[in-house]
Amino acid sequence: MSRPAILVTREIFPEVIELLARHLDVEANQSDESWSREQLVAKLAGKAGALTTGSERIDAALLDAATRLRVCANMAVGYNNFDVPAMTARGVLATNTPDVLTDTTADLAFTLLMAAARRIGESERFLRAGQWQRWRYDMFAGAEVHGATLGILGMGRIGQGVAKRGALGFGMKVIYHNRSRLTAELEAECRAAYVSKEALLKEADHLVLVLPYSPESHHAIGAAELATMKPTATLVNIARGGIVDDAALAEALRDKRIAAAGLDVFEGEPQVHPGLLEVPNVILTPHIGSATVKTRMAMAKLAADNLIGFLVHGKPLTPLNPQVLKAA
Ligand code: DGY
Repeated sequence: MSRPAILVTREIFPEVIELLARHLDVEANQSDESWSREQLVAKLAGKAGALTTGSERIDAALLDAATRLRVCANMAVGYNNFDVPAMTARGVLATNTPDVLTDTTADLAFTLLMAAARRIGESERFLRAGQWQRWRYDMFAGAEVHGATLGILGMGRIGQGVAKRGALGFGMKVIYHNRSRLTAELEAECRAAYVSKEALLKEADHLVLVLPYSPESHHAIGAAELATMKPTATLVNIARGGIVDDAALAEALRDKRIAAAGLDVFEGEPQVHPGLLEVPNVILTPHIGSATVKTRMAMAKLAADNLIGFLVHGKPLTPLNPQVLKAA
């Protein structure tokens, strides 16, 4: 009996390719070529499934060309590269990789928060440049982290992980804003108090963004929001580029309207706004929120298990549009 054919769009762990190949006919991009949109569409011809990363846009035009496609398994928890309604309308299942990266990504939020607040990037560049001649009382004096007020915008699983780290590890007062308020039990578990977005911006000493990207969250932090933050505040974005207006942030950092930022995601990445590259008080990392070996393996394996689960057994593990299953 012929096995369903799938495409793996980017290089991933060879062990995961082997796992897929035990159940499916696999075409894998293990040489990690950059494919144009047309090449991607051509590669998808005749494929029942695809293991994608955030780099591939799965939208109506692509789905109309890839008529045999039944499932796309994103190796990411975020799925703003998927047009889920268009997929659902065409009976194409979408899956992502929740849970397996929650703690790793919350760890990176804290790494960036501490590095930005304590001016680690500036200090390290100063030392490496041989500029450390003598001690000064105010040398790289930054903002306190322990006991400070931690604001979180977006309180899903990763936001909750950030809250727990702040409250339990650093004795921080945690406030959050989210589209919907957490249950009283979850608020107690996270030791987090719900506030309006305005209060969050005004009161946070350190503000961490963990909300999903959508047209509604586009530029959720722009010039007006930055203007309401404390001049001593730190901003951390581990969510998605486009949630912050990077041009406005570069200006705010340059003019010291906020003290520092830690950014893992950027508008139009891998391009980074030149203004951000020029200011010293920002820590920049290339979208490595989930990048530990263990977590990236867990993500790849979950994406593979979603493809095998659906195409071989009819049971994906983490579907985003389960209505497709009912309709099938
Ligand atoms: C995610 O899982 O959404 C991350 O941003 C990808 O590394």
